[in-house]
Amino acid sequence: MHSNTKEQNIYLAPMEDVSDFPFRQVLLKLGKPDVFFTEFVNVNGFTSKKGGSHVLHRLEKAQEQEPIVVQFWGNNPEKFVESAKKVKEFNFQGIDINLGCPVKKVMKVGCGSALIGNYDVVGEIVKSLQDLSLDLPLSVKTRIGVERFDEQWIAFLLRLNLDSVFVHGRTVKQIFSGNADWDAIAEVVKLRDVLSPGTKIIGNGDIKSVKQAMEFKEKYCVDGVMIGREVMKNPWVFSGRIPEKKERIETLLFHMKEMKKFVERFPDKGWSSIKKFYHGYLREDEELTSLRNELFEKTSLEESIASIPRT
Ligand SMILES: Cc1cc2nc3c(=O)[nH]c(=O)nc-3n(C[C@H](O)[C@H](O)[C@H](O)COP(=O)(O)O)c2cc1C
Repeated sequence: MHSNTKEQNIYLAPMEDVSDFPFRQVLLKLGKPDVFFTEFVNVNGFTSKKGGSHVLHRLEKAQEQEPIVVQFWGNNPEKFVESAKKVKEFNFQGIDINLGCPVKKVMKVGCGSALIGNYDVVGEIVKSLQDLSLDLPLSVKTRIGVERFDEQWIAFLLRLNLDSVFVHGRTVKQIFSGNADWDAIAEVVKLRDVLSPGTKIIGNGDIKSVKQAMEFKEKYCVDGVMIGREVMKNPWVFSGRIPEKKERIETLLFHMKEMKKFVERFPDKGWSSIKKFYHGYLREDEELTSLRNELFEKTSLEESIASIPRT
């Protein structure tokens, strides 16, 4: 049986345009998870002739953001190997394989969730990465099944001798509907105890606070908990603090300035993804709500920064 009573093992979920460099800088200020994840990085893009320059922004990290795991997506084992070798000098603390993304453009090309049940390809990707002996933890992030909890799929993953398996407690069919099935996650833990006691199981889905994460860690016997969408709604989630109005505005301004510096270095990164956070920063007050509405109309980051009242 695993027990990590001393460590909380709270992870930031990989989320495209959310778990990016500028927001990770914000979390360093507000309260951070125990482990960061990058956004997912396509192995074909990263190893392409262009040299991956269009995805490089996803691999940018600061030393203070460590430990941080890089997540790759794709379905070509050779590209995974090439990417893993290429990423070695970036000094990540782990490599994760995306086996859970339900987005159409990813599934259509046989990747993400489309790999659930594709034992041959997934087995080959994992084995070829393990054969590299990179001395880095290797993990996968998956869903509980395609239409229902798929014990065979989970058992297959557990026999791969991975460092960790991250389990989002929804099926592929659910996409984001309904609730995450934490009882199914507890089943994964039971299977792990039998099949692969050395593999850590990290539960994911619908967690709204560190307090809830700790309760679920205990109740469902997982080794850690991953928090995703709640960070957009409440960037203070890892600290558990409730910010005052002044701090909300100042933090948004800091986030915008971090984004500005970042897009100047990486013009391939679109700045407007910061709009995903406006609801999280600017709420619970009429003045904040009207500032939010004003900001949604802005078409440049400079203009948006200029609209923020200096406190
Ligand atoms: C905007 C957005 C982007 C996401 N991008 C990724 C991704 O790049 N890789 C991945 O494995 N999961 C991705 N996810 C799924 C999350 O990592 C997480 O599994 C899911 O949101 C469930 O956790 P939550 O209920 O705490 O949000 C994304 C989710 C959202 C909402």
